[in-house]
Amino acid sequence: MSEPMQRVALKVNGEHHVVTVPTRKHLADILREDLGFTGVHVGCEHGVCGACTIRIDGAIARGCLILGGQSEGAEIETIEYLSSQPGTRDLVEAFVSENALQCGFCTPGMVISAAALLAETADPTREEVRAYLSGNYCRCTGYQAIVDAVMKTAAGRRAEKGEVA
Ligand code: FES
Ligand code: FES
Repeated sequence: MSEPMQRVALKVNGEHHVVTVPTRKHLADILREDLGFTGVHVGCEHGVCGACTIRIDGAIARGCLILGGQSEGAEIETIEYLSSQPGTRDLVEAFVSENALQCGFCTPGMVISAAALLAETADPTREEVRAYLSGNYCRCTGYQAIVDAVMKTAAGRRAEKGEVA
């Protein structure tokens, strides 16, 4: 028996796409395999590790928990977009300068979650950063450098606004 297919129209990183995919294919695999956004990483496929974190209509979401049909008409942003934007490039650069990655598998999801935290909280504590990122697993770094990168970004943004860093 052939697998049921579904046509899905969605907007990714500012561009419209239409794909025809198996109805049970999740959005993270569609983004990677059908549209080439390989910065979306797939780890657990159970919503646990955070590797597949993306933004849907401005809110962070797990790409592995959403079927293609559920994203019909949605506006999606991946790390490929965020890393090119002036508003988030500083965070990506801080991950690099603070050596906040080793294998890099968790990094796209980590950056997207951290960007959401900093959009909500300009002056987080280290504990708040750790709590916010607790749904993003890193097997390599011990998290210290990741927290450093987020704190550095927050301080840099406050300094830019003339607030005490
Ligand atoms: S692959 Fe989606 S949360 Fe792990
Ligand atoms: S840098 Fe390897 S999993 Fe986080």
